[in-house]
Amino acid sequence: MHVTARTEKPADARFVHVHGASLDYGEDGEGFLALKDMSLDIGRGEFAAVVGPSGCGKSTLMKLISGLTPRSAGEVEVNGADVTRPLKIVGMAFQNPALLPWRTVLENVLLPIQVVRPHRSDYRVNKAPFIERARALLAKVGLAGVEERYGWQLSGGMQQRVSLCRALIHEPEILLLDEPFGALDAFTREELWGVLQDLWCERGFTVLLVTHDLPEAVFLADRVHVISNRPGRVIYTTDIDLPRPRTQEVCFTPRFVEYVHELRSHISQARQVI
Ligand SMILES: Nc1ncnc2c1ncn2[C@@H]1O[C@H](COP(=O)(O)OP(=O)(O)O)[C@@H](O)[C@H]1O
Ligand SMILES: [Mg+2]
Repeated sequence: MHVTARTEKPADARFVHVHGASLDYGEDGEGFLALKDMSLDIGRGEFAAVVGPSGCGKSTLMKLISGLTPRSAGEVEVNGADVTRPLKIVGMAFQNPALLPWRTVLENVLLPIQVVRPHRSDYRVNKAPFIERARALLAKVGLAGVEERYGWQLSGGMQQRVSLCRALIHEPEILLLDEPFGALDAFTREELWGVLQDLWCERGFTVLLVTHDLPEAVFLADRVHVISNRPGRVIYTTDIDLPRPRTQEVCFTPRFVEYVHELRSHISQARQVI
């Protein structure tokens, strides 16, 4: 039997489908276009990255896909269905891990389960499997033993690991990451690339990563999209054809450096496109 490789995904190539989408933050026709004619497809299980100048609409794109903000025009579909309200199959993490200081690490990870239906009622009836799941996730990202500590007792990198676990606890099909490692030092950031890659390889969810860091995009993604200055739209897309799992050594290969340079030149153009 022919086994479809993870990178071949014709049937699911439009798992996330954004076509000709715009988003206007202006009220009463004042017109403040954050996105215009944005088109982007992400295959099921794909790791996609988006890079672009500050203020070009990257976070806005995340809000559009997650259903937190309705589009003004165009198509936004996930798994073949029009996105009209916040999606439950999405997990999100941001630059600021935003852990609740009065909750332990374990309680922070469990938060989405305690809030979102249908997990909420399942959790009330039987907490043990969820606690087990949270502990397993924390162990997976190297945080076994810190479950009962508080976020403020942890380093920035450890807090960001907790934030990743919280984003994944309800086993979302899509993980949206908005500059998740932006505030970390270079060593910690590179460590977390490995953690994220392992989670993704093991669990096979679909990722959209927004980042300022071009090596981060090339290291992690199957495909990188460059977005123009506001109003944002995709002006360049490249597939990253590097074998997996990727290790730090790949960052020193000519191919890797070439991808980063190529993206950098497109970012320079992106800053000029009005
Ligand atoms: N809720 C909002 N209301 C009005 N303008 C907004 C809102 N959110 C973002 N913007 C504006 O839309 C543009 C795109 O923002 P954003 O998506 O946050 O950019 P990025 O994440 O690429 O830095 C920016 O000019 C920003 O100031
Ligand atoms: Mg942003």
